[in-house]
Amino acid sequence: MQEQWDTIGRTKRLHGPWKNMLAFHRDPLRVLSWLARTESPVIPITIARWTLYLITGPDELAQVFTHHVRMLEKGPGMDRENPLIGRGLLLSETPWWETSRRDVKGALAPGQVRLKADRMADTIDQALDRWPTGSFDVFPQLVWLTAAVVVSSLFEASLDPETLSVMIEASGHLMEFFYHRTRSFVRPPYRAPWPLNSQFHGASKVLSRVADQLYAQKERAPSAFLQSLANLSESDRRAQIITFLIAGHETTANALGWTLDQLARNPEAQALARQNPEWLEACISEALRLYPPIWLMSRKSLTSMQLGGIDLPAGTSILMSPWVSHRLPQYFINPETFSPDRWINQPAPSPYTYFPFGAGQRSCIGESFARQELRLTVQRILARWTLIPLNPKPTEPLPRMSLRPRGGILLQLVPSGA
Ligand code: HEM
Repeated sequence: MQEQWDTIGRTKRLHGPWKNMLAFHRDPLRVLSWLARTESPVIPITIARWTLYLITGPDELAQVFTHHVRMLEKGPGMDRENPLIGRGLLLSETPWWETSRRDVKGALAPGQVRLKADRMADTIDQALDRWPTGSFDVFPQLVWLTAAVVVSSLFEASLDPETLSVMIEASGHLMEFFYHRTRSFVRPPYRAPWPLNSQFHGASKVLSRVADQLYAQKERAPSAFLQSLANLSESDRRAQIITFLIAGHETTANALGWTLDQLARNPEAQALARQNPEWLEACISEALRLYPPIWLMSRKSLTSMQLGGIDLPAGTSILMSPWVSHRLPQYFINPETFSPDRWINQPAPSPYTYFPFGAGQRSCIGESFARQELRLTVQRILARWTLIPLNPKPTEPLPRMSLRPRGGILLQLVPSGA
C-alpha cells in the first residue's frame, strides 16, 4: 500500500484523487490505518474533489466529541431527514435530541440496568439452549440472542420467534441501506424511485409494524423505557423504538462474536476468563479494543473551527475511528496483540485513546446495558463449553456499518467436563 501513495503537502493522495476513493471503498481499515502513521493528530484525506479529516490526536478528539452540540452534527448520510428514525436518539440533533436523551436516560442508567440482570440472564440461557452442538458459525446465533435480549430486557416484551427473525432481517436491510448512503456521494431524496430507497421503505414497513407490536405490550408489562415514550407522537415513538431495536442488538452481537473468536484463539485467556470475573472483563475490553463494533464515526462541522492547528471551514467532514485509535503504538504497547493483561491492575486509558462506546454528549447511552449483556453472555457460554477455533487463519473483519466477522465466527463448542 505504502508505495502506492505519495504525500502532497499534508494531504495524502493515491496517484490521482479518484484512486483514493477506490482504495478507501475497497479496504477502509487498511487505508485509514496507513494514513494514521504520521505525527499529525489531524490527517487530511483527499477523495476525488473532497477533503475530509481523520482525527487521531486525543486532544483534538476531545474537542470534536465534547463540542458536538454547539459546533458539529452527525456526518453525511446519518441524517435527521430520515423519515423512519431521523427523530430517534441516534440521528436527531439539538434541541430534539436533548429532550429525547433526557426522557430515556433513566431507563438505561446503570442502577436500572443492574435490576434487569436476572431477566437478561434468563433470555440468554433460553437462547443458548437453542444452540446446536458441535461445530458451527455462532454469529447468526449471537444476533438472535442479542435481539431477544433487547426485546425482553429493554422493552420487557416478547416477540414470537418468526417475528424476531423478520425484525432481524429488516434491520439488516436497513443497516445495508445506511452503509451505502453514508459512503455515497449521491444521496437521492427518500421518495426518489431508487433501488436502495425501495429496500429502505420495505424494511421501514416491517420495523414499524414490530415497533407497534412492542409498544402495544406496554399495558401488560410496563417497561420504564416504553413508559418514557408515552407522550410522543406515533411516528416519534416508532423512531425511538426502532433506533433502540437496531442500535441495541447488532453492535452487541459483533462485540460478542469478536470476544468469542479471541477467547477461542487464546486458550490461556479463555481459562482465566472462565475462573476470574476480572479476567472476563479484561477479555471483553480487549476484544472491544481490537475489534470495536463501531469502527468509524463521522461528523460535519457547523461552524469554522481550528483542529490541531488546521483551519476547517464550516461543512467539513470529520472522521473518528476507534479501529485506528485503538491500534496506535504510542498509546498501546504491541497494539495488534490480544493482551487482556493490559487491563489488569493498570490505569484506564484516556477516553480519547480508547472509545468503543464513543465519548462526550453523543456517547452510547446503552453502554451499561451492553457491558452487562456481554459479561453475562460470555460467562454463560464459558460455563457450558470450551471454545476451539475451526479455522486457524485469523477471522477477517468486514467493515460495514458495524465491524462484522467476514465469513462468521466458526467455532467448535466442546461441552464442559466432556
Ligand atoms: C457493544 C455494544 C455497543 C457498542 C460498541 C456501541 C457503540 C456506540 C457508539 C460508538 C455510539 C456513538 C456514535 C457516535 O458518536 O456517532 C453509540 C451511540 C448509541 N448507542 Fe450504542 N453501542 C453498543 C450497544 C448499544 C446498546 C445495547 C444500545 C441500546 C440498548 C445502544 C444504543 C445507542 C444509542 C441510542 C446511541 C445514540 C446516543 C446519542 O446520540 O445520544 N448501543 N453506540
